Amino acid sequence: MVYLGLTMTPNFRKSVALAAVVAGLGLAWAASAQTGDKPLPKIWSGAFTVEQVERGRTNYLARCAHCHGEDLTGGDGPSLIGGNFSRNWGSRSVERLFKKVKERMPPGEEFVATDAEKLDIITLLLAANGFPPGKSELTLAPGALSDLMIVGKNGPEPPPSGAMIEVLGCLVEDGADWKVTSATDPMVSTMDDVKADAKAAEKRPLGSGTIRLLDIYPKPDALKGHKLMVKGLLIRGPKDTHVNVMALESIAAQCP
Ligand code: HEC
Repeated sequence: MVYLGLTMTPNFRKSVALAAVVAGLGLAWAASAQTGDKPLPKIWSGAFTVEQVERGRTNYLARCAHCHGEDLTGGDGPSLIGGNFSRNWGSRSVERLFKKVKERMPPGEEFVATDAEKLDIITLLLAANGFPPGKSELTLAPGALSDLMIVGKNGPEPPPSGAMIEVLGCLVEDGADWKVTSATDPMVSTMDDVKADAKAAEKRPLGSGTIRLLDIYPKPDALKGHKLMVKGLLIRGPKDTHVNVMALESIAAQCP
């Protein structure tokens, strides 16, 4: 467990390392080696401290563990480490993760912990997923969280098959099927706030991909030709990319 460095307290080392090992998942990113000469992404240079993670762990055990498991591997709530974490939060900023916990966790009683306490818990999640501690604490200063991307040592990678994603594109009918053309690259997303995400995407440029849409019901005739946001599960086939659609949200009545 070299990734934890030598400054860990035994307790911390035990709790974090155990979480990953017991789960048999390995640490989502710890094993990723850096290739090329690109500078390491910020999150790899120590974005929080060991003490902060320790505080986070105390609060996590009190507020979150009964649903997400003492070792973070899940229970009533999903696992917060390994493949599930990298699929849902990879290539996104720590701000999105913080927002999720701040506004929605625990469900129905978001105010059981202060923002600072929740930020400490976020550092536990990062440490448990293999990101290294450093010399200064993670803070809520403007930009501190939005600039911190959850990525491997080589930076953002395309979302894997099975990830919940969003794309923008033009809706086109294709025989019995539907597809989006001028599609952007799939980006990891959530279903938490489809309308707000579509609004935030209004000015984002379109791309050059084509993505087939599966499981659209009812038929989206009224949105034909619109610029829209598609959310759903990404399926990377040998020949093309599909999305198992969970939401379509119109952005403009014409495209582009
Ligand atoms: C009462 C049970 C419960 C408690 C307590 C709870 N959660 Fe959750 N959590 C859930 C459920 C259920 C989901 C999945 C539904 C959703 O995403 O809203 C979830 C989802 C999440 C997610 C997103 C996981 C993913 O991969 O999409 C994170 C992160 C999270 N919880 C963190 C926390 C943290 C941190 C706390 C403590 C402050 C906490 N939760 C407390 C039940 C709980």
